[in-house]
Amino acid sequence: MEFLELIRKRYSVRKFKEQDIPTEDLRKMIEAAGKAPSGKNSQNWHFVVVKNRNIISKMAEAVEKNISDISSDLPDEKSEKFSKFSRFATFFTKAPAVIAVYAGEYVPEGYQELEQVNAKKEKLERLIKANPGIQSIGAAIENLLLAAFDMGYGGCWMTSPNHSGGEIEKVIGFIKEGYMLVALVPVGVPDGDRKSPPKKDAEEIMTVIE
Ligand SMILES: Cc1cc2nc3c(=O)[nH]c(=O)nc-3n(C[C@H](O)[C@H](O)[C@H](O)COP(=O)(O)O)c2cc1C
Repeated sequence: MEFLELIRKRYSVRKFKEQDIPTEDLRKMIEAAGKAPSGKNSQNWHFVVVKNRNIISKMAEAVEKNISDISSDLPDEKSEKFSKFSRFATFFTKAPAVIAVYAGEYVPEGYQELEQVNAKKEKLERLIKANPGIQSIGAAIENLLLAAFDMGYGGCWMTSPNHSGGEIEKVIGFIKEGYMLVALVPVGVPDGDRKSPPKKDAEEIMTVIE
């Protein structure tokens, strides 16, 4: 597929066929992810490919349990809203593979220097909010999703399960010093029709200053 067409056609896939993905195809997706730009070429990412159905189920169970625990402590209407969206945090349980994305620490350029000169809190907060480490991870995940789509697979970038990040990490059992789980990307052969919400026109999101 032509590249811009691929970008236009990509959509989040949340239903998958019961079809295994060869590990070599997953490797190609991760190879594409690893070609992304990153702050100072830090490549501050690690991708754990979980194909074990039992572990995938346990990851989803950990998220479900947290959602149920949090919901039971919330007032009624908030609890209903929170649990209503739980399927958007747990549907990965039916995927043939889930890629757990880990991010390594990244100190923004100038942060330590600003700290040293006792810069204002707002200046430091700006650097943290624009977090280059997480921006790099975003570039890698998009590469991964586009590569998956190009190869006839589909996937979904997921951060809703992050409130259960610690529990998911324990289930996966992967440890890398300074790294933490920041997203899950279930991948597989799409099952059913494409459903993607409308996107804003370029005119709406673009400002030209001449
Ligand atoms: C940072 C990020 C986090 C997301 N987290 C979730 C998620 O937890 N669950 C989910 O179902 N979709 C999630 N999505 C997918 C978005 O809902 C989806 O990209 C958006 O609705 C646009 O649809 P499209 O990807 O089909 O174009 C996430 C997307 C991004 C970029």
